[in-house]
Amino acid sequence: MQIGVLCSGGDAPGMNACVRAVVRTAVSEGHEVVGFMDGYQGILDQNFFIGSAGSHRLFMRSVSGIVKNGGTFLHSSRCPEFATPEGTQKAADILDKLGVDALVPIGGNGTLAGAHALGKIWKGRIVGCPGTIDNDLNGTDFTIGFKTAVQTAVEAVDKLRDTASSHHRMFLVELMGRHCGCITLHTAIAAGCEAACIPEMPMEIGALVEKLTNLKKLGKTSIIMVVAEGYQDGVLELQKKLEDAGCPFSMRSVVLGHLLRGGDPCPDDRILASMTGNLAVRAILDGETDKMAGVQNNRPVLVPLTEAIEGHRVISQEELSLLECLSR
Ligand code: F6P
Repeated sequence: MQIGVLCSGGDAPGMNACVRAVVRTAVSEGHEVVGFMDGYQGILDQNFFIGSAGSHRLFMRSVSGIVKNGGTFLHSSRCPEFATPEGTQKAADILDKLGVDALVPIGGNGTLAGAHALGKIWKGRIVGCPGTIDNDLNGTDFTIGFKTAVQTAVEAVDKLRDTASSHHRMFLVELMGRHCGCITLHTAIAAGCEAACIPEMPMEIGALVEKLTNLKKLGKTSIIMVVAEGYQDGVLELQKKLEDAGCPFSMRSVVLGHLLRGGDPCPDDRILASMTGNLAVRAILDGETDKMAGVQNNRPVLVPLTEAIEGHRVISQEELSLLECLSR
């Protein structure tokens, strides 16, 4: 069997570890693997990863030493052409022409939605892996890259706290997550932030100022408020609105942005990537298709792609209450 692997959408720490797991699992079972460059664009362009031996195939040694590396050696992209019916059909035709029997796309919501669309018209098997820092997919406890992104955010917030404390200031820290506040909420709990603004829970400016005023009355002299990228109009606009509404703290804003996508994956992300990459190949060899390999309660699970991509993961009320209780 010839299995294609690709990374698509925003890169996430652990994608390399996942490709490594796909390659090593497939090759040890006697199958061939090819890596497409730049996500789905690589299928449309027939652009393969070419190893040092000049071969299109990925071998055991092609993935040596990458388990610890951030980014993705297969590179990634968002591919608007593939998202069109014509583009999806073109990809299916090219995969057939190349003799590819199965595909493991590694990415987030858009990537797996694309995989599901491809599966409707292509005869090959498709099992995807959850590669996104956003942790917004259903059916898996975590996505590859999320824990590393939270670690990076917490390290940055810890540093900002020093300045916030020294100057009795409030920092608004914008973190990635267009539709999902998961990174923001976990960072807030782990870094001891006083407030978190997430897209799932919009707040009136007046209520936010009242909360900050109460925190000041409770003796808080510095505030860190983490704000998800997808929260209303962004952190700079929010700072202005808070100033206009009489926020009692002097404020500065920081946008961490793509910093969260970089860096070497933490051990948990390497393990998650290894488990899901391995499961994706085993599932394909068992005849599965239209699935995502995830992890629930530390055990590998297969989830229908439709379930994984349906809406966005619901934020945990327990975590919200925990932050509310501990941030006073
Ligand atoms: O999906 C991952 C993600 O990092 C989101 O958190 C963010 O909104 C988006 O990608 C940014 O995408 P780009 O790198 O294409 O600007």
